[in-house]
Amino acid sequence: MLVNAQQLSLKERVDIKKNKQIMSWTLPSHILMRYKTKSFIETGTNAGQGCQLAVNCGFEDIRSVELIPELYELAKTNLASAPNIKLYLGKSEECIPTMLEDINHQCTFWLDGHSKYNCPVMRELEAIKNHSIKNHLILIDDVREFGTPIHENITVEEMQNFILTINPEYKFTIEDNILIASI
Ligand SMILES: C[S@@+](CC[C@H](N)C(=O)[O-])C[C@H]1O[C@@H](n2cnc3c(N)ncnc32)[C@H](O)[C@@H]1O
Repeated sequence: MLVNAQQLSLKERVDIKKNKQIMSWTLPSHILMRYKTKSFIETGTNAGQGCQLAVNCGFEDIRSVELIPELYELAKTNLASAPNIKLYLGKSEECIPTMLEDINHQCTFWLDGHSKYNCPVMRELEAIKNHSIKNHLILIDDVREFGTPIHENITVEEMQNFILTINPEYKFTIEDNILIASI
């Protein structure tokens, strides 16, 4: 189901320039620092909070995709002065192959491009599976809502089993409502 910016709550439309404490809503910096690589790849840019966190954590290369044009434009404005950020507009699962075209190293994925009743996570994982690198670090937000209609009844077990088809060496932890798949 597509939503437009008018349907988003005030919190979702936050202008990060007005919020000096800008951070991702749900990704704590101490977790992101633990899984730091050269590249941060995010689905669900929103106003740019996750990208700003990645800048603060020192990622060299930051890429993020947003579905809603108004949020994409807002993030562009909010992040205009930040270096090394590439923003994409479109469906995450369709943009991931382009986002990864020139990548040949392990990256840190922040899969957060899901809203209520719209959960592309399995298609995002399929796109990650199709990439040549088989040890990307994958962080998936909102674990508590998986297995419910909010996230199309996709379960944590289903995601884990699929990730193991990318590479059977993946290990899983859950922390702060985030499923972390690492090698
Ligand atoms: C929870 S917000 C992301 C918050 C941000 N990543 C952070 O760390 O604070 C979810 C965002 O995902 C976007 N979204 C939903 N479905 C998407 C899709 N299929 N592709 C890309 N973005 C999507 C929504 O428009 C919304 O801006």
